[in-house]
Amino acid sequence: MPGTDERYRNCLVNLRPRGQDHVLRWWDGLASGERERLLDDLESIPWDVLDKLIPTHVLSQPNTALVGELLPAPIYPRIPGPDQQTLYEEAVRVGRERIAGGKVAALTVAGGQGTRLGFAGPKGAVPVTPVGGKTLFQLFAETVLAAGRRYGVSIPWYVMTSPANHYETVDFLVRHHFFGLPRRDVIVFQQGMLPAFDFAGRLLLEDKHRLALAPDGHGGVLKALLRSGALADMQARGVEVISYFQVDNPLVKPFDPLFIGLHALTQSEMSTKVARKADDLERVGNLCLRDGRLTVIEYSEFPEIHARVQNADGRRRFDAGNLAMHLLDVGFVQRITSRSFELPCRRAEKVVPFINDDGSLVSPSTPNAIKLETFIFDALPSATNPLALEVDRTEEFSPVKNLTGVDSLESAKHDQIRRACRWLEAAGVKVPRDPNGEPDVTVEISPLFALDAEELATKKDQIPALKSAATVYLQ
Ligand code: UD1
Repeated sequence: MPGTDERYRNCLVNLRPRGQDHVLRWWDGLASGERERLLDDLESIPWDVLDKLIPTHVLSQPNTALVGELLPAPIYPRIPGPDQQTLYEEAVRVGRERIAGGKVAALTVAGGQGTRLGFAGPKGAVPVTPVGGKTLFQLFAETVLAAGRRYGVSIPWYVMTSPANHYETVDFLVRHHFFGLPRRDVIVFQQGMLPAFDFAGRLLLEDKHRLALAPDGHGGVLKALLRSGALADMQARGVEVISYFQVDNPLVKPFDPLFIGLHALTQSEMSTKVARKADDLERVGNLCLRDGRLTVIEYSEFPEIHARVQNADGRRRFDAGNLAMHLLDVGFVQRITSRSFELPCRRAEKVVPFINDDGSLVSPSTPNAIKLETFIFDALPSATNPLALEVDRTEEFSPVKNLTGVDSLESAKHDQIRRACRWLEAAGVKVPRDPNGEPDVTVEISPLFALDAEELATKKDQIPALKSAATVYLQ
């Protein structure tokens, strides 16, 4: 292990020719622990990647204009056509077989904080269920546990955190005994960070001994899987398919035999679920065929003219919303991370407090810095035989992005109740409803009670009669 002086000299060799040695200007006044911290930050900078990105993404704006041919994506429908029925039946059979064979793992990207919800900790620790007040992490852990019990197999759950919430996340999971999952089956690993730059392309310091760093986006999961050893762990367990989902969706169904089976039968390396958009400008990515390749174009980059265009029958032409639920082959992740593959980088202008040349902390009120990140869905165009499956959003998607309103804690609780009531009615249970047709009960179905409507129907004898305004917890 090189000593501090040697590390300092090595950092200087990297910084000076790039005009970045200002970050060492407070060195003489730093305590030894602070020096080590600063060197840790500086050694984490991937200069090979950044040397290419600074001219194109920091000092100038990358051209995000859509060029080339843009067509609606081909999508496997929610309900199979007559010629697809056999394929779907076979897919469900194969999907179940893959799960039962231990070939499928769950992966939650949870690098974000619950800040927009007014919550200080990791977003996964936000209570979201309508009766039990379970957190997102508990829901996911119990879903993994229940699927493992159903299929008679141990299913590993990988959770990606960021340095901003890693220790809190681990502490939260430990304090709750991994919500019943064996410790060895919960693998928490950290994503990478990238430095923030000012508009002149200079590194920013958040403290005299700390660089201003930011998570490298959920696309960073690919390298983080490799670097952390999580990918090797998957391979050692015989896992072949990663079921990826975001931390914000309490309705997620990570073990969908149809999706997993279609992915396997079509030899897709990466597959994705979509739902029809709620409105033209819904803040979801748009799955399209761009120059013949399946591609997600984020709402912020999707021109309104495309978002609003209709087909002759009046239906939206680009109507496939990205639900951020993907299947990735372990072999695909291995393939693209083992060569010098980079996902396209995104530039975001943000407010980043920094230490100025006088050594004072400045907290700007308007964006002063550029952060760089990558998105996982940008791996789709590199996949062989990528596939998209349409699902019913009311069954699978209700993200918690805000406290109230659209895509909120409030709407997600309602959507959980609505789904539970549909499952109950499908099982033949009478659900009291108000004049608007909304459930007049507050119901929660734990994943440990039933993972889907079919399982619920087998437990009808354990379900009490539902009285108007009642609160019922099936756990
Ligand atoms: C995201 C998708 C959008 C999709 C929508 C569905 C992006 C850029 N857009 O939008 O296409 O339709 O979800 O709900 O993803 N995360 C990390 N590390 C990071 C950044 C994010 O783990 O560095 C995780 C967050 O914890 C969260 C998820 O990625 O689970 C989504 O990130 P967010 O920035 O909230 O994306 P959305 O705007 O919600």
